[in-house]
Amino acid sequence: MKGVILAGGRGTRLQPLTNLFPKSLLPVYDKPMIFYPLDFLIRSGVKDILIVIDYFHADMFMKYLHSGKEFGVNIQYKIQDHPHGLPDAIYHARDFVGDDDCFVVLGDNLAFDDVSTQVKSFKSGASVFTKAVNDPSRFGILYLDENDSVSDMVEKPEDPQSDLAITGLYMFDNTVFKKIPKLSKSARGEFEIVDLLELYLKEDQLSYTTLQEAWFDVGTFQGLQEAGFYISNQ
Ligand code: DAU
Repeated sequence: MKGVILAGGRGTRLQPLTNLFPKSLLPVYDKPMIFYPLDFLIRSGVKDILIVIDYFHADMFMKYLHSGKEFGVNIQYKIQDHPHGLPDAIYHARDFVGDDDCFVVLGDNLAFDDVSTQVKSFKSGASVFTKAVNDPSRFGILYLDENDSVSDMVEKPEDPQSDLAITGLYMFDNTVFKKIPKLSKSARGEFEIVDLLELYLKEDQLSYTTLQEAWFDVGTFQGLQEAGFYISNQ
């Protein structure tokens, strides 16, 4: 299993902090944000990790993380020229992942579960991690049927019918690189992760696990503050 951290994008919700500084290097309590998704992947047993970054901040990521040697892993970098959306960022990892599966983690997601067992037992399809949230309109949301099987997914629904957020932790088999080119941009002009997951759902190849520990999307000031508070109390 290869690891991929998506740390491109513009971080518009965190302006003016992100006017000069990349979102994923902003401090979350006592560490740069990206240390958390990196640590999560390492604890999951992933040793080869690609970080997708934008060209403007590429040197800053390398100055913080180097080759990954001091973390005991191999880190490589790939530049995404324009933030066309999460599936586009994932597609930038195709040469790095090769014939392997990949565990994609968003650079602004902090998760504390031990999912190494799921990583070891992953065989095929796509597997996502969910968490009940108070503000489902901010996230990709998973809808379940009466048997608790996935029936649908909606990105940032205006009128959410479920509170089960799809967190930014996704395991994909290698068919992800055949699926991504089939996607079209959404009304907001981005390739959407839920559209990619829909392709797996149509093949009955999408599974989910609910996280037991805390989870934060720190892409907003509120998320940053809540995560900092949580970490400082551990
Ligand atoms: O945090 C979980 C949520 O993350 C999911 O519930 C949503 O389904 C998913 O779309 C995503 O929503 P966000 O609006 O929070 O995504 P954001 O645009 O903030 O991007 C997440 C990370 O991915 C961020 O660290 C930057 C990186 N990124 C983003 C884009 C659009 C890239 O590397 N390239 C991109 O093109």
